[in-house]
Amino acid sequence: MVLTRRRLMLGAAAAVPLGAVVLSKKEDPVVTPRAEGPRRSREIERVVSATRTSDGAGVNLNRILGGRELPMLDPFLLLDEFQSDNPNDYIAGFPDHPHRGFETVTYMLHGAMEHKDSVGNHGRLGPGTAQWMTAGRGIIHSEMPKQERGLMWGYQLWVNLPKANKWRAPRYQDIPAEKIPERDLDGAHVRVVAGSAQGATGPVQGIDVEPLFLDVALTKGARFVHDLPAGHTAFFYLVDGALRVGPSKRELRRGQLAVLAPGETVEASCDAEQGRGLLLAARPLNEPVARRGPFVMNTDDEIRQAFDDYRSGRLVGG
Ligand code: CO
Repeated sequence: MVLTRRRLMLGAAAAVPLGAVVLSKKEDPVVTPRAEGPRRSREIERVVSATRTSDGAGVNLNRILGGRELPMLDPFLLLDEFQSDNPNDYIAGFPDHPHRGFETVTYMLHGAMEHKDSVGNHGRLGPGTAQWMTAGRGIIHSEMPKQERGLMWGYQLWVNLPKANKWRAPRYQDIPAEKIPERDLDGAHVRVVAGSAQGATGPVQGIDVEPLFLDVALTKGARFVHDLPAGHTAFFYLVDGALRVGPSKRELRRGQLAVLAPGETVEASCDAEQGRGLLLAARPLNEPVARRGPFVMNTDDEIRQAFDDYRSGRLVGG
């Protein structure tokens, strides 16, 4: 079936379960210097579970962030997990669709994602790769999942851009698996996609919200502690197995996301066979958010403009 642009837009808009445009404005956080005093280990504030849903041309996926239960965690707007050994769940993929005003991050564990865009980029993201795409003022691309030995497993994260940079030129950072540093320490295996951990710095550079993106795998008995800016938004998503997170050592299982309270450190340990999670953190923007379908701006008018620009062919180029 051929998706017309209109149908695609309606589909994409309908997939965001937020009804109409959502506006939110948070107070600026009071930043207290904590040069001395106790270092707070981040406690789990809330746990949410992934919800099965469908997006694109009929891709069945787990929506962890960006759904009804947890619409956003500033500056994170969405986290989807594709995991299936049934090609019917994902083979229709995400044919040509637009984005404006934010960044999409793809992280693959198994299988591959073929992508092609209006800027002339074309590639195949294989297992272990990451792609950080800054949509800026506008891009149209396709993302088509491909299986490998029957299994497709990957993630897409949406990260907001500050108001001042929503109109910047689009940019890609395609990171092959071997360029992502890995560290092993006492049963903890860490891949550093963005930010720094255990003496390694991730290859994703120049992102406004200073993101941390770690893939943390622990074996039984292992412990992992990581320092991060106290006021940054942070969450842990359990990719596989089970981990205990925070000072109260609450157990998280596959498919659960833990929102972490402010603090200087994050700790995780494993007393199951193994546990693996994505630890994401970033500086919150505290700006108004207006989002609909594939566009994330600051005002309702800017969203209308994005749809108009897309319909009239003005979203990309220029
Ligand atoms: Co996309």
